[in-house]
Amino acid sequence: MTGDEDAFWVFGYGSLIWRPDFPFAESRPAMIEGWVRRFWQGSTDHRGVPGAPGRVVTLLPEPAAVCWGVAYRIADSDRASVLAHLDYREKGGYALEGVTLLLSGPHEERAGFVYIATPDNPNYLGPADEAEIARIAATSRGPSGPNDEYVLRLAHALREMDAEDPHVFAVEGHLRRLLPAG
Ligand code: SIN
Repeated sequence: MTGDEDAFWVFGYGSLIWRPDFPFAESRPAMIEGWVRRFWQGSTDHRGVPGAPGRVVTLLPEPAAVCWGVAYRIADSDRASVLAHLDYREKGGYALEGVTLLLSGPHEERAGFVYIATPDNPNYLGPADEAEIARIAATSRGPSGPNDEYVLRLAHALREMDAEDPHVFAVEGHLRRLLPAG
């Protein structure tokens, strides 16, 4: 079975792009329309700790925006266990929402799901200057590792797929200036 209309697709736009730790049957670069990626979510369970949250990405609605990421097709037999795993992994404020995915390659549209941390969740931090976000990322660390790794890996993954994201690349640029050369 490949890419059928009823398949279960999950869209990753943050760590799910570069650390998919779940079984999937297929992955495709993809975009969603009407959403913009921002480092506006606090992380107290992965890239920071309570009282000193790291900065991780979430999506905000913005009518003319597009957000590039990776769409994963999950086999029916894995659906329940992958959802349970991701619900736990994304428990720091993210909730599953339905979206329309535009798969790249042979362009195809699919119904899918995405984890979004909306402003009403307790870990939401909201807007900040990109230099300030980088400063926090340079010093924060949590159970999943340093916050700078999250930023650098996301920027690298987006560049590898030729995806534009001025916000992510601006934070990455500020961050690189703060990190020791090497
Ligand atoms: C995602 O990657 O799709 C959700 C946000 C994150 O875990 O970084």
